[in-house]
Amino acid sequence: MRTPVIAANWKMNLTIDEAVTLAQKITTSTADIADKEIILFPSFLQIPAVSDIIKNTNIGLGGQNVYFEGIGAYTGEIAGYQLKDAGCTHVLIGHSERRHYFHEDYETVNKKILQALACNLKVMLCVGESLEERENGVTEMVVVDELESAFQDVGINKLQELYIAYEPIWAIGTGKTATPKDANHVHKIIRKTLTRIFNEEAAGQMRILYGGSVKPDNIKSLMQQEDIDGALVGGASLLLESFLSLVNYNR
Ligand code: 13P
Repeated sequence: MRTPVIAANWKMNLTIDEAVTLAQKITTSTADIADKEIILFPSFLQIPAVSDIIKNTNIGLGGQNVYFEGIGAYTGEIAGYQLKDAGCTHVLIGHSERRHYFHEDYETVNKKILQALACNLKVMLCVGESLEERENGVTEMVVVDELESAFQDVGINKLQELYIAYEPIWAIGTGKTATPKDANHVHKIIRKTLTRIFNEEAAGQMRILYGGSVKPDNIKSLMQQEDIDGALVGGASLLLESFLSLVNYNR
């Protein structure tokens, strides 16, 4: 059985005070939830304060990005060991906003994953096609390429530390979601690809999250799909009420 994961990507939103308040409320309101994994991805500046709040809970904490070099003269970047030092357990890598606005290519994503794993951070790798790619019928090719390139040289012993988030780019922040059936179809392709890259047992255990306009009114039907193991949520994770109803989708 794969424990469902509900992850909040706060992106470039909230002040430190706002992040603290939201994290405090999430922590108290989810204290009795044992059947799901919750992970928060605040912006870098909020991480130390959020880390203080969630320590001694089961809530995971992650950076939204990491640099692929270990340490040194890389002005403006954040290293994996610094994320770890600030209390992070996880890191998001390859989000489409990073790939597109900041031109992160396959090689960069792969190097970031290797560095993050070397720092004992759990990696949530984002993959997904653009609208144009979907319309051209190359969704499968895009997703398979993203997975194969990202996991080059990643050892099989690291698999418990990996999550995949399938986020079709056209569904992010647009209010459009993939239908549960369409999303599940891509999740199956992802799991099949992971089986090929690693092995069946490992692929069967990996959590594959869906992301892209997940809201309280559509999460249930997404989570009912066999290969959808969680949600990576942007907009709806910024408000306490909607985030809690996402976490409580099955109650
Ligand atoms: P939205 O939930 O705002 O569509 O964002 C999805 C996302 O990009 C999460 O990483």
